[in-house]
Amino acid sequence: MSVPLLSAKGLTVRHGQLTALHGIDLDLAPGEVFAVVGANGAGKSTLLRTLAGLHPPGGRIRLEDVDITGLSPHERVRRGLVMVPEGRRLFRSLSVAENILLGTVCGRRGGWDLDRVLELFPWMRDRRRERVDHLSGGEQQQVAIGRALVANPRVLLLDEISLGLAPVVVRQIYRTLPTLLEGDTSILLVEQDVRQALRAASRFQCLLEGRTTLAGRPGDHTAEEVEAAYFGFAGTATA
Ligand SMILES: Nc1ncnc2c1ncn2[C@@H]1O[C@H](COP(=O)(O)OP(=O)(O)OP(=O)(O)O)[C@@H](O)[C@H]1O
Ligand SMILES: [Mg+2]
Repeated sequence: MSVPLLSAKGLTVRHGQLTALHGIDLDLAPGEVFAVVGANGAGKSTLLRTLAGLHPPGGRIRLEDVDITGLSPHERVRRGLVMVPEGRRLFRSLSVAENILLGTVCGRRGGWDLDRVLELFPWMRDRRRERVDHLSGGEQQQVAIGRALVANPRVLLLDEISLGLAPVVVRQIYRTLPTLLEGDTSILLVEQDVRQALRAASRFQCLLEGRTTLAGRPGDHTAEEVEAAYFGFAGTATA
């Protein structure tokens, strides 16, 4: 890989007594979709939140050639590292447009603005003044993605965008990813839904209890290998 857009070296994160990440390494290339998969509690959200500046880690994080390990979350957004958090975290009493525009507060300037988000998700145009707590889960997820896009990310961190959504809605949201990659954006997504994640990603990493158990390109590993890495089976005995 040329210079990675985002790289993490030896990330270790503790929540009190619990070590949630044990020395994780990760490199994200410019323009790629990279998936981090893992079961409940594997450390996926801790990893994304650490990259976004919400947990102080042991180890180093670099965005291109700059060490950003000590920077605040806001400063990271200003530099183009933007997260769509697990559970969406929208302001329930604000409208679709108001929620999206909040993304511009610390964001970078660039090709994404409210109008372009309304083009990407056309249903929003007529409903942009509606409160977000009147929307379906899939619609709320699209608002959360829109809020991240107007910050003009170089790296978009997506935490379980499929969580709690019907498969047809998940596919619809995943179909928009190629558009999100336009310009100089890369996507780092985390998912419990391995199949969906590996369909979308060119490379992946599997976490189990805060450690990397498998990494590579989706086509390089059998479903059984991925399953073993995901659940921590030692392999199936044949004798
Ligand atoms: N703020 C916190 N305080 C204490 N423990 C935490 C905290 N956040 C996460 N943990 C613990 O750290 C471990 C990793 O949690 P994390 O939320 O990163 O996993 P995850 O892979 O995102 O799981 P899920 O798929 O359920 O979202 C879990 O054991 C979890 O209970
Ligand atoms: Mg999580």
